[in-house]
Amino acid sequence: MDDAIETRKARKPWRLRPSVDLVDHLEHAPALDRPILRIAGIVRERLPTGRLRDTLHGVFAGHPIHPPLAMISLGCWFSTAVLDLTDADPRAARALITTGIANALPTAAAGITDWSVLHREQQRVGFVHAAANLTALGLYSGSLYLRLTGRERGGRTLAFLGLAVAGLGGYLGGHMAFRQAAGANHAESVAHLVPLGWHDLCQLADLPNGRPVVRRLGYIALFVLRRDDEVWVLADQCSHLAGPLHQGRIAVEAGDQCIICPWHGSTFRITDGAVVHGPATARQPAFQTRILDDGLVQVRPEPSDVD
Ligand code: FES
Repeated sequence: MDDAIETRKARKPWRLRPSVDLVDHLEHAPALDRPILRIAGIVRERLPTGRLRDTLHGVFAGHPIHPPLAMISLGCWFSTAVLDLTDADPRAARALITTGIANALPTAAAGITDWSVLHREQQRVGFVHAAANLTALGLYSGSLYLRLTGRERGGRTLAFLGLAVAGLGGYLGGHMAFRQAAGANHAESVAHLVPLGWHDLCQLADLPNGRPVVRRLGYIALFVLRRDDEVWVLADQCSHLAGPLHQGRIAVEAGDQCIICPWHGSTFRITDGAVVHGPATARQPAFQTRILDDGLVQVRPEPSDVD
C-alpha cells in the first residue's frame, strides 16, 4: 500500500489538463474583481426584480435561456466555417454570420443578467467568457463587413479567428455550467435524499408562529414555516446557488405567501415552492406535512418530486 502511495506522489507534478488548471487559477484570481463588482452592481441596479429580469433569467422556461441562445450563434458560426472550407455559396455564409450576430444581443443580455448574481469565482470565469465572446462578435462583424465589400478572403480569415475565440468562450461557459454549477438546480437532490414515507420532524409547539426556521431531517436542512395550526416545509437550500432560505424574508406576491432568498432575492411560493421571481429558475422542492394528535409534525417529499 505504501509503495502505491509513493508511486502516485512521484507522478503528481506531471499534468495532463493544463486548460483546467489555468481556469482553476482564473477562478481564484482577484485581479478582475474591481470591474466585476462595478458591472455586476450596475446590471442589478438597472434590472430590478420584475418581468424583464425573470424573462432574461429564463424563469418561464424552467432553466436559464443563455446556454441554448448561445448555441444558435455558435451553430451559425461553425456552419459558416464549413461553408467557407467547402467554397459554398458566399451568400449562405453571409446569412449565417448575420444570424449569429443578431442572436448575440439577446444571448449577451441573458448571460449578463445571470452573471450579475453569481458567486465571485463564477463571475471571474464569466468575465473572461464574456470578453472572449465579445471579441468573437467583433471578429465576425469585421468578417461580414469585409465580405460585403468584396474582400471574401479577408472575411474568411476573420471568421476562422472568430470561431477559435468563440470556442474559447464556449469552453469557459462549459466550465461555469459543469464545474462551477452556475445555472444548475442546487436543490434537485434534496427530495431524493429523504426516504419515502412520513418522517417525524418536531413538535408543533416548538415552532415559532409566523417566523421561518430551519429544522434537520437527518443531515438535510428544511425550511419550516408555521402559521397557527398549519406548517409548510421546503428544502432549505435555494435552488439558485444553495442560499439558506430560512434566513430570508416572508412577503406576499399576488396574494401568495412567499419566501425571498437572502442571497440574490429568488422568490418562492411557500405552499409549493414555485418560482415567483428569479434568478432561480427551478422550483424549490416542497414537502407534504401532517400534524398528529400529540402535536408531532411529520413530513414526506411531494410524490411529484421523487417519482
Ligand atoms: S442562492 Fe441565489 S437567490 Fe438563493
